[in-house]
Amino acid sequence: MSSKKILLIAPTGQVGWELHRCVQPLGQVLAVGRNKAQAFIDLTDPDSIRSVIREIKPDIILNAAAYTKVDQAEKESELAYIINGTAPSILAEESLRLKSLLVHYSTDYVFDGNNDKPYTETDPVNPMGVYGASKLAGEKAIIAIGGKYLILRTAWVYGLRGSNFLLTMQRLAKERKELKVVADQIGSPTWSRIIATATAHILAQLNSSLYPINIEQLSGIYNLTCNGQTNWYEFAKSIIAQYNNQPNILPIPTADYPAPAKRPMYSVLSNEKITKTFGIELPDWDKCLKLCLASSN
Ligand SMILES: NC(=O)c1ccc[n+]([C@@H]2O[C@H](COP(=O)([O-])OP(=O)(O)OC[C@H]3O[C@@H](n4cnc5c(N)ncnc54)[C@H](OP(=O)(O)O)[C@@H]3O)[C@@H](O)[C@H]2O)c1
Repeated sequence: MSSKKILLIAPTGQVGWELHRCVQPLGQVLAVGRNKAQAFIDLTDPDSIRSVIREIKPDIILNAAAYTKVDQAEKESELAYIINGTAPSILAEESLRLKSLLVHYSTDYVFDGNNDKPYTETDPVNPMGVYGASKLAGEKAIIAIGGKYLILRTAWVYGLRGSNFLLTMQRLAKERKELKVVADQIGSPTWSRIIATATAHILAQLNSSLYPINIEQLSGIYNLTCNGQTNWYEFAKSIIAQYNNQPNILPIPTADYPAPAKRPMYSVLSNEKITKTFGIELPDWDKCLKLCLASSN
């Protein structure tokens, strides 16, 4: 495994940053991003994507980049589709040419939220907004091009870096005496580090002499979230529980917090397939939250 060349796109994102640490033992890691991490790549520029991949010739491409501004995507639809739809198709084409493995991340927002039990990978998709639709376009492009790929669908991502619900609640808890938080959207908060460690666990199996996996046969979509479910209000309460001077947190319905993009009301994903296929047991979201809050970075 140590000879594998791993190209990590977007080491500055929540997931990318954790991946950068987690996959180091698995090979030679080259991180590329918009801020000239090691080499420059801009997913809005097909030439930059192709030239980086053709120069590096990676065995594994980890695409942690995405257009993730759910509400802004309603206004910047073209940009969202270029980064989330077109760029992954170029990555898949280049990956196919090199016979490399493309690992790509997708979202629970490909669903409309009308299920009453956890979504499986084969449940019908029906995104409610531009972000979800653009991510779905990326999934479809990768699948159509074929080759070796893993599309890992995750949800409600948070961590101690970047822009996410946990950091927003921590900031607001210091600024305000009262917070109103949506209580009728249900999902599974997922620590970015869990996504990265699960990814590394899968990659480590590629060259395992004891339990080798055939990635060509296993290419496909896999859900990857923390286990269990909650709503944003309960999640906020669990985050704030650590503070001595806690603000009053009030549950509100989605209708009282209008946003440009519609969200799925229920987007719990079933982790059964990834657990059965790769032997990954995902921890419960509340356990992960405690671990994250106790971690230093
Ligand atoms: N966040 C969530 O709640 C959530 C939920 C479900 C699924 N996901 C999926 O999980 C994956 C990782 O998300 P995340 O939360 O880690 O995202 P994130 O923190 O918003 O990071 C996005 C990354 O993409 C990079 N990027 C954006 N546009 C780019 C471009 N044109 N060229 C090159 N790089 C570009 C950013 O680079 P800069 O630092 O230069 O901006 C940043 O490193 C994504 O596929 C996302 O769709 C996320």
